[in-house]
Amino acid sequence: MCGIVAYTGKNAASRIILEGLKRLEYRGYDSAGLSIWNNNSLKTIKKTGRVDTLDREVKRTQVDGHLGIGHTRWATHGAVTENNAHPHVSSDGKFAIVHNGVIENYEQIKHFLEEKGYTFHSDTDTEALVNLIAYHYQKEPENNSSNGNRFFNSVRKSLNHVQGTYGIAVICSDHPEDLIGARHGSPLILGLGDNEHILASDVGALAMHAQNVVYLNDSEVVHITRNSFNIATITDESVEAIVQRVDWDIEESELGDYKHFMEKEIFEQPKALENAMRGRFSDDESTAKFGGLNITPQELRQVDRILFCGCGTAWHACLVAEYLIERFARIPVEVEYASEFRYRNAPLDKNTLVFVISQSGETIDTLAALRESKRKGFQTLAINNVVGSTIAREADGGIYQHAGPEIGVASTKAFTSQVMLCAMMALYLGRLRDMSFNDGVKFVKALKEAPKQVETVLKQSSHLQAIAKKYAKYEDFLFLGRQSMFPIALEGALKLKEISYIHAEGYPAAEMKHGPIALISPDCPSLFLAPQEEVFQKTLSNIQEVKARKGPIIAVTSEGSDFPRDLADDLIEIPSAHPAIQPILASIPVQLLSYYIAVERGCDVDKPRNLAKSVTVE
Ligand code: F6R
Repeated sequence: MCGIVAYTGKNAASRIILEGLKRLEYRGYDSAGLSIWNNNSLKTIKKTGRVDTLDREVKRTQVDGHLGIGHTRWATHGAVTENNAHPHVSSDGKFAIVHNGVIENYEQIKHFLEEKGYTFHSDTDTEALVNLIAYHYQKEPENNSSNGNRFFNSVRKSLNHVQGTYGIAVICSDHPEDLIGARHGSPLILGLGDNEHILASDVGALAMHAQNVVYLNDSEVVHITRNSFNIATITDESVEAIVQRVDWDIEESELGDYKHFMEKEIFEQPKALENAMRGRFSDDESTAKFGGLNITPQELRQVDRILFCGCGTAWHACLVAEYLIERFARIPVEVEYASEFRYRNAPLDKNTLVFVISQSGETIDTLAALRESKRKGFQTLAINNVVGSTIAREADGGIYQHAGPEIGVASTKAFTSQVMLCAMMALYLGRLRDMSFNDGVKFVKALKEAPKQVETVLKQSSHLQAIAKKYAKYEDFLFLGRQSMFPIALEGALKLKEISYIHAEGYPAAEMKHGPIALISPDCPSLFLAPQEEVFQKTLSNIQEVKARKGPIIAVTSEGSDFPRDLADDLIEIPSAHPAIQPILASIPVQLLSYYIAVERGCDVDKPRNLAKSVTVE
């Protein structure tokens, strides 16, 4: 949440910052702003709304220089106003700061500073921090000024008094060559360019200028000029920087011929699934193999229970993992919302393996669940899409999704790629236990067929578009499915509500009669996920119950199934497949339906209201 970019170097800072902010806009789009060292003074421009509005204002005012900071905001403290937009400037006018995170003790800091005469103009927590820096700067010896140490130390010392999370970039009018960055709980990456340095909340915002990067760790502060950088902890221990090559294809993050990133990412799923599987099968052993688990087959044999944690769509992938691993590997699985687990102090069996799933690898609750598990001494693994993310770096081992950048706020290709990796994990764990060689062969074959089968579902996009037109006017929806279709029902409901603002709920189909059936009426359509599998007939009975109450019915079933053609108002067919693949195939129609309904309703599909893609605050 919130994206920050900062630049110092030979090029025009405002262009680079604006370009970076546009790539970070998925992190928040309530307001945007920048501060630039321009004609010997700090110039700050802020606008509510999108980065484009800021861009126009920067062009109009022709503010530019070679050092600056920028921000795109997802509001936490304070309404969406220009006053609350970042950067925030200290009351003496010397410092400007951009901040991603939450300063939890800002009221105490503010009160302390107000008594010392500092004034505040916004409702944000960030303004307390920038004034605290100004306060410490006053106390620092002036003989430290020439090389920027006074500035660096004032930021560093201030951070020792801060509780909460931050990724920050700060500039100071006394030090027009210096830029200070720091992180704790919110990501911050330093890009090393040629005679230039750039700081950003994620690699996508700096990859076009820097191929080498340093991922800052929690409680680290970096002092940057255009030719040098130095990292220390906030308690002033020196840190040796680990420089890594960027793994980011800039073209992959362009929209191309698509109208929205969500549409592009839905259609990229066959490729994302191929990438998740590439090089990860051993045909001789008819199993999956993973390079980065850092846990031996012998250790995995000792695992009695697996706990999966994630948030939102990633949590739905965890639920699919529960069905697949319990069914094919016969290992008990528990699934927890990361945000609940972190504070629940759940008793875990000593042979529990903890698995977290996160596309971004920066979701604060998932990260906290991972840290809590590690602190208790559990072995932790992560399924994660963004290479070098905090979760990827902190888990004991893991599996990269290689799904490519996911920019649409609503997750699509990351979800099915997570489900694919969970299916592969079910295969791997199953083959370590009771799954036979022949069943393994069938499983591997089925997984390899998935991308082609997804393509055939995607070919039905115009059919789904026509269905979407018919249903776009409704304000309530139910998504229903049993067994591994239940998480897909939850995912379908989440997709629809987040991008089209239609109230939607996902339920196990049989649960409907324990309450939600009261909603059924001609005004509340139900989407049933009913591929032909063990509980198929049971699902058909649930559909009859809705039909008897005159609820409109959309059904997703498998080709050649015994689904009575007159039972549903609208029918969508997916290929008949191995049960491990069904959740992936069933996801495609619910994604397309939600997408086309949102387009039909004129919604801003890639930037739905109130949302941000990477949730780095609690
Ligand atoms: C919904 C969506 C969110 C994320 C959730 C976790 O479409 O994208 O629910 O799934 O915020 O994000 P990650 O996977 O980055 O941890």
